Amino acid sequence: MNDYSREDFLDLNAFRGLGEDPAYHPPVLTDRPRDWPLDRWAQAPRDLGYPDFARYQWRGLRLLKDPQAQAALHDLLWEFRPRTVVELGVYSGGSLVWFRDLTRLMGVDCQVIGIDKDLSRSRIPATEMANIALHEADCTDLGTLEKLLGDVAHPLLFIDDAHADTFNVMRWAVDHVLHEGDYFVIEDMIPYWHRYSPTLLEEYLASFRDVLTMDMVYANASPQLDRGVFRRSAAKG
Ligand SMILES: C[S@@+](CC[C@H](N)C(=O)[O-])C[C@H]1O[C@@H](n2cnc3c(N)ncnc32)[C@H](O)[C@@H]1O
Repeated sequence: MNDYSREDFLDLNAFRGLGEDPAYHPPVLTDRPRDWPLDRWAQAPRDLGYPDFARYQWRGLRLLKDPQAQAALHDLLWEFRPRTVVELGVYSGGSLVWFRDLTRLMGVDCQVIGIDKDLSRSRIPATEMANIALHEADCTDLGTLEKLLGDVAHPLLFIDDAHADTFNVMRWAVDHVLHEGDYFVIEDMIPYWHRYSPTLLEEYLASFRDVLTMDMVYANASPQLDRGVFRRSAAKG
């Protein structure tokens, strides 16, 4: 039998940017000693020796936000002091715990809501669920979002990190959830869309001109948030 005749190929797009393993594993150096001899200091490799993105973690949970995105979101949390963070796309859940812990440290009473179509990969321990709600749902089913997010506290930070039907989700959020000043963040995708579909991207963004503006502080603070940080510009309704 040829290998390619198998019928169970997984869609590898599902792992784009994630990796196959939601658990955090500390880095292992396979090509160099961890304790490098100082008499060969000048010859030491200058790269990390392991893939960095898969290794970002918060208290042992994978966190798919790189240090620049973490710094930008830290600053946004401190300035904005959200009472609710909604994140579409949970994966291992590290970002939800990170949002909860940071807002708690900042003295903000904040509920963190994570929505994912597959929560089997969440690694948040049951003891770490304070102020975190997880919902298994397809975030493109806007009726489901309506039920889950019908009554949330503001200010609200809404992050799309599921990358599914983003502009319809954004329109729904603008019409049903966001109050003036609330944030809608598109993580990761804007540079790709700008590269492959610039005309549609500009057209879609322009269609929100009366209801959203781009926050020029956070939209330029990190590649993962690149030109994707928007604020509700007028009162709801
Ligand atoms: C990039 S990961 C989220 C990473 C996480 N926010 C973080 O920063 O650590 C994307 C997640 O979106 C989920 N996802 C993809 N399409 C979805 C959809 N239509 N509805 C809900 N979740 C979806 C995937 O299952 C995956 O866990």
